[in-house]
Amino acid sequence: MNIDEIIQIIKQKPPYSNLSSYIHGKSHAERVLLFATKLAEKLNEKIDMKAVTIAALLHDVGRVDDGLDPNHGNRSAILAEDFLKKNNIECNIELIKRIIRRHCEDDFSEAPVECLIVGDADKLDRFRLRGDPLREEYLELAESLELVDFARKMDNNL
Ligand SMILES: [Fe+2]
Ligand SMILES: [Fe+2]
Repeated sequence: MNIDEIIQIIKQKPPYSNLSSYIHGKSHAERVLLFATKLAEKLNEKIDMKAVTIAALLHDVGRVDDGLDPNHGNRSAILAEDFLKKNNIECNIELIKRIIRRHCEDDFSEAPVECLIVGDADKLDRFRLRGDPLREEYLELAESLELVDFARKMDNNL
């Protein structure tokens, strides 16, 4: 199964197909995937793009509402694992769970580059929250700074 086929399956089925929030729904997940892909292209490293893609699309599926919801990373990771196993999607499930859990932890310790990519991509989409925009000091990859203007323009056009 290639990445495009995996994206199609994710989009057709729950938990992704159940996403309905404006703030943390499908369009947010799509932009996080877009920012993560652009970020990965800038990095001169070997990156597990399957894990990045899957985690970007599924990172918020465990949210119960649009509030702070500090435990949604854990819930999203469990739902993602369940979905990936049920659909026999060959991928690094442990890495995907780690990326998803870490995106909402205040943990800036060392982590695989895939965690940093999705974490920063999620933060880059903060311009959609007009009153609580991106804080550049929270970005972990220097390359993410090159995407700030692009992200701002995208979200200001929503
Ligand atoms: Fe989140
Ligand atoms: Fe998110």
